[in-house]
Parts: sequence; C-alpha cells; structure tokens
Amino acid sequence: MTFKTASKSSEPTEKDIELEAERLFGKGLGDLGYSEDDLRRCAGLTWKINALKQEKRAVIPAHVYQRAEILHGVADFIGDSYKLARLCQESRAERIIFCGVRFMAETAKILNPEKEVILPAPQAGCSLSESIAGQDVLKLRAEHPGAPVATYINTSAEVKAESDVIVTSANAPKILSKLFETHEKVIFLPDEMMGKNLAKALGKKIGTDLILWKGSCIVHENFDASSIEYYRKIYPGVRILAHSECSPGLVSLADLVGGTGDMMRYVEKTKAPYYMLITECGLGDLARTEFPDKVFVPMCRLCPHMRATDLKSVLRALENPQSSSIIKVSKEIAERAKNPIEKMFEMSEDSVSR
Ligand code: 13P
Ligand code: SF4
Repeated sequence: MTFKTASKSSEPTEKDIELEAERLFGKGLGDLGYSEDDLRRCAGLTWKINALKQEKRAVIPAHVYQRAEILHGVADFIGDSYKLARLCQESRAERIIFCGVRFMAETAKILNPEKEVILPAPQAGCSLSESIAGQDVLKLRAEHPGAPVATYINTSAEVKAESDVIVTSANAPKILSKLFETHEKVIFLPDEMMGKNLAKALGKKIGTDLILWKGSCIVHENFDASSIEYYRKIYPGVRILAHSECSPGLVSLADLVGGTGDMMRYVEKTKAPYYMLITECGLGDLARTEFPDKVFVPMCRLCPHMRATDLKSVLRALENPQSSSIIKVSKEIAERAKNPIEKMFEMSEDSVSR
C-alpha cells in the first residue's frame, strides 16, 4: 500500500521551534557541537516529522550509527540490527520509516509484509550486502554439500532466501557454535573478517571447518591496529571495544569484540576512565549523550551509507516518498527469507534489552 495523496505537515510557530530546540539541547546535542543555529534548523524539521508521524501512524526505528539529530529528535526506538528487527516486528504502526540502510529496511519488510516500509535515503546500501548474490550462495552449497549456510544480516533479501539461518554481530558466536554441535562444516557469509574472528573464537579451521566469502565492510576493514599500543600508553586504563567486522589483528588487541549493542552494554556496566569504540562514529556520539560522565577517545570512521539519511529525507519519506524509497520484496523471496530470520530468533533465545 502506498500513500494516495501527498500530505504536507503544518508549520511550527517561532515558539514551537524554540521549545523543540531546547528539547534537543536537553538531549545532549549541544555537547556534541551543535550550535544554536544548528539546533533551530533541526528543530523546525523534527517538529514537523513528529507531527506527521502521528498523522501517518508511522514508527521510526533508527540504527545507532544514524546522525544524533535523528536518534534524539525523531526516532521511536534505536538499536543494533538485531534489536531493530525484533522491535519492528512488535510494532503496531501502519508504516515504518527506517533510518538505516537497505538490508535493515528489507528485513523489516520481510517480517512485516502488510506494512509499508520506507527507506528515506534509497541509495543507502552496504558494501557487505553488495558483495554477494543469491547465485553465489547456491554455488557455495553445491561445493560444500550438507554444510548449513549461516548468513550475516547485512545481506539482500535474495541472499537471505538461500540461507539456513541469519546471524547478527550480537548472536553470531552463539548460533555458529550451536551449528557446529551437529555439523563438521559450516558456511558463513559474506564478511570475511568477521568469519576469521569467529573461526578464532570457536577454534575452527578456515577452509575446512568454516567456509568464508570475501566480503568486507568499507568502514571496519580500514581501522589500523598499530596505534592501539600508543593509545593504551596515553590513556591508562582505556577500554578498547572493537566491532566484530574489524580485522583479527585489531580484535586480538581489544578488551571486547562484538556488535554495537554489546559495546553499549559493556560501557554501561564498566567502571573505567576511558573508552575507545572502534566502529562508525555515530556510536561514539550516542555513547557521549547516554554516558555524559564517561570519556570516549575518538577512533571512528563515517559510513557513507548510514550518513545518507538526514532529517530532510525523513520528512520527505513521510510527506511524499519517492518510489525507490518504498521497499519492495517479492512474495516468493519474502516467504523464503523469513524462515532463516525466524530461525535466528529461535536460536538466539534472548530478550532485547539495549
Ligand atoms: P550492529 O548489528 O552491530 O549494529 O552492526 C550493524 C552494522 O552495519 C555494522 O557495521
Ligand atoms: Fe555496511 Fe559497514 Fe556501513 Fe555497516 S558500517 S552499513 S557493514 S558499510
């Protein structure tokens, strides 16, 4: 179902903008470097988005890498890939305006075929998702008969449809170790770095026990392990947290390896003077607003796909979405892709917290 007519939001008064800018300031955006002008510019847009969201019965999930004005200004819930997939499924809204990247919005559509799912920045892809097609999975299956295919959620609906179980950074070690209880060989795709990290953690041999694909994240593959020792010297007691898409060399020097949700939980529970979050910069900004008393040493990179969404594109998605923003997954693919996602929910057996 698509919107029948374009609807324009009403305009906020000067007073509305002032109050909304104060609300955004109270969320910690001032501490992130937003000037008064920035806050007023954002406030005009967040006011309109929040008004229109109610009128359109829409919900706005946002990945933790999104810009701070989206996370604190308009998002109804924020989280890692796993949490967003679960919460979208639980939402009673009629439409989902997904602030993230295409594979996340597609996952929401697969789980909610009756809802309209809109990706405000239709060009927001992911280098991992683009590294592999459904045909490649079929070829791997033919080369390794009987080996189950565990697929990272950062993939297209077509690739998910050819998989046995989906995993995210939050549950990949648990799900893979369960698969190894009943299989000698497992195919994991498409992130090669994450695959190498999993092989090491589970004591498995690459190429014989664990079959990998050569996909990589353009953000995490570039972090340099050589500076870690230097940072440990100048920030005594610093906790180094690395996303599991980082290289094994870097991961071997970290205090924690995991997904964005694991990193936030670690910061929440740990009493340490400094933290370094080796991942996309949005997570550090979120951590600075959520834990204002902790110090975050900058070590991050921007993901051009995650940055493609801004408040203007979110407003456009609500007012009059372009057709490329409306997520379409064929019934046949969606039905087949849903099974491995539900298998993940079953095998991860946990509740969604952060
Ligand atoms: P998380 O599921 O850990 O949030 O990761 C998503 C992602 O795209 C990492 O680059
Ligand atoms: Fe994809 Fe990497 Fe961007 Fe995450 S950070 S969306 S894995 S390109």
